[in-house]
Amino acid sequence: MATQTSTLRNASFLISMVIWCALLPASAQTQVSAKTTSKPWLNFSLSPDERAAMVVKEMTLDEKIALLHGTGMSGLGPVSPLAVHSNGGAGYVIAIPRLGIPAIQMSDAAYGVRMSGENGRYSTALPACVAGAASWDLEAAHEYGALIGRELRAQGYNMSLGGGVNITREPRNGRSFEYMGEDPILAGKIVAQVIKGSQDQHVIGDIKHYALNDQESGRNAVNVNIDQRSMRESDLLAFEIGIRESDVAAVMCSYNRINGDYACENHYLLTDVLKKDWNFKGFVLSDWGGTHSAAKASAAGLDQEEPAEIFYGAEFKKAVEAGKIPKSELDDHVHRILRSMFATGVIDDPPEKSVVDVLGGLEVAQKIAEQSIVLLKNEQNQLPLDASKLHSIVVIGAHSDVGMISGGGSAQVDPPGGNAIMPPGKGRTHWQDHIWFPTSPLKTIKAKARGVSVQYDPGTDPSSAADAARAADVAIVFGYQWEGEGMDLESLSLPENQDALIAKVAAANPHTIVVLETGSPVTMPWAGQVSGILEAWYAGSRGAEALANLLFGDVNPSAKLPVTFPESAADLPHPTIVKPPVHSTTRDGENEAWKRIASGLPAFQVTYDEGVKVGYKWYDAENKPVLFPFGYGLSYTAYEYSGLKVTPGDNVHVTFTVKNTGSRPGAEVAQVYAALPASTGEPPKRLVGWSKVQLNAGESKEVRVEVDRLYLSIFNVEKNAWELVPGDYAFLAGGSSQSLPLKETASLK
Ligand code: BGC
Repeated sequence: MATQTSTLRNASFLISMVIWCALLPASAQTQVSAKTTSKPWLNFSLSPDERAAMVVKEMTLDEKIALLHGTGMSGLGPVSPLAVHSNGGAGYVIAIPRLGIPAIQMSDAAYGVRMSGENGRYSTALPACVAGAASWDLEAAHEYGALIGRELRAQGYNMSLGGGVNITREPRNGRSFEYMGEDPILAGKIVAQVIKGSQDQHVIGDIKHYALNDQESGRNAVNVNIDQRSMRESDLLAFEIGIRESDVAAVMCSYNRINGDYACENHYLLTDVLKKDWNFKGFVLSDWGGTHSAAKASAAGLDQEEPAEIFYGAEFKKAVEAGKIPKSELDDHVHRILRSMFATGVIDDPPEKSVVDVLGGLEVAQKIAEQSIVLLKNEQNQLPLDASKLHSIVVIGAHSDVGMISGGGSAQVDPPGGNAIMPPGKGRTHWQDHIWFPTSPLKTIKAKARGVSVQYDPGTDPSSAADAARAADVAIVFGYQWEGEGMDLESLSLPENQDALIAKVAAANPHTIVVLETGSPVTMPWAGQVSGILEAWYAGSRGAEALANLLFGDVNPSAKLPVTFPESAADLPHPTIVKPPVHSTTRDGENEAWKRIASGLPAFQVTYDEGVKVGYKWYDAENKPVLFPFGYGLSYTAYEYSGLKVTPGDNVHVTFTVKNTGSRPGAEVAQVYAALPASTGEPPKRLVGWSKVQLNAGESKEVRVEVDRLYLSIFNVEKNAWELVPGDYAFLAGGSSQSLPLKETASLK
């Protein structure tokens, strides 16, 4: 399917180029054909592979080596003088003008284009990636990627470093907000659409961090131990689906070791699985400072070192000249990089700097936020709020008078005008500062509640916040948990005494609604005492507008959790995150650390003995009750499920009816899970498909979900292949992983 889509895309690109050429004045047409005569690879009717092969033949050894590495990065040094034409992003590979090959200008772009403030530009901040996954909406995911693609091009970049899809095996991972939840099928399908959205705009897409970079603590030293079947069925499956369905041009290998070898010199991961089993045609680049050798990494399948040339510059050249790295291996790396540039259109249709469409971007950000904020609790239909029936509202805590928090690290998008809350003593924001976007819930709530007295309390003193809550009809308390790259969360509790604040407010006012701004699940010791809970994640540039629309019912919530919210961190597979021994702790941004990382830090061990039991699969298998299950989310209307039918075939077709039994229109994410035969030894059930259905009040629709055989298969290590074990499969359908009213068994072979 991926090949078909890319053929279609290439065909439509070709047609538009042909039309474009026909419209050119005669003199320009002569120039184009003159160019293609001297540089026949600029003829876009040839395939990306043919074009790349022609260029490789023309290249000198030095030109080839130049494509194999970046040229440094400000703050992380060494910055090469070659980087003078860098666009200011995280990565820059020089152009080869003689051959008409442009530079690769890379920017981080997880939930928007990074470093725009620093570079005097502007970017839209979308809701965090985990929020995008909470929409369960493939079209929204495509729009997410397309917006990023457009803004990258407008800022002069031709490559995105987004596409994070490490599954949430460890919810305390400080980068959970950059990923797409705990299920490999949901995460894989969502990331594929994000990448397609960006690549359709003619930027090189990227999927990362390949693989098992599931904790930040000691990420440059840790050795992850996991058996092959488990990794193929969990973490790697998200990549497999993401890569297959997007035709992504680049894969970033991660910092950590896996079963003894660093990811960026791991032959099993890069060659056996990625390039052979999955037939990946693009290139592999290392995470920043994740390269540890020339010959070993090259043989394992690493195509490009980033951000500098510690191993893939002079040392690589010497190894080629000495015959230690075969020329064919070098050519394969170069071919893959060039092929990706041709395939994504960055050579035929280079970016032109322009002003980003600010208002268009904000509109997309708001629409996605509205689809991604999850309603977790709504006791006695407390929500939506009806302003005409209220006299007073108090808004409490988490700087909700000013803004909403965002996730940090290399994913960080700069807010327009700088951090809405400048930390005392700091003129500008730094790595791991808490960055707040100027989207003020207090303002948007006030705008919806005309005629209602809306007061603000900072929540710094729980007693005075409780007093303010007691005096109001409704209290809306904001709680936040910041996270970012290079750190993990110590626990799943809200920090800074926020649990005590919420409990006190709830005790003072039975109409208390909690709004959470977090990137990971949090525990909620006060959940039983409040009447409403919304998970807003890191909601992006227009978070407050989206939130107010949900609170006041202009938008009906439809999002569902892409991660389980456990009752307690003690229920996780591992009581704590294993920390590196002190001597292998590194600090990003420090030049000496950079060098020590390159030469390889002493390993410490993390063992994922829970195997395939990630997220809900763990709680199901271990019979642990949870606070809010995977796939869960409420609406202001209600849905009824009936009439499940399962039709086996090449792919299995599952049909059933969903009815909106309430009085408002809504969208239901109808989910299908499968329980595999006991002989497979799999956890009780796995998500195998879903459909997001729009339903008017009272309307019914038949839902049809096609289940790919892969999603019903297990990985047979001996045969190195996926296999569907013949037997009885139970199919379950409903509105969450724990609300599955329909069940039907089918015998499959
Ligand atoms: C991160 C990557 C990022 C790169 C460039 C690394 O520290 O792990 O996700 O793309 O930096 O900024």
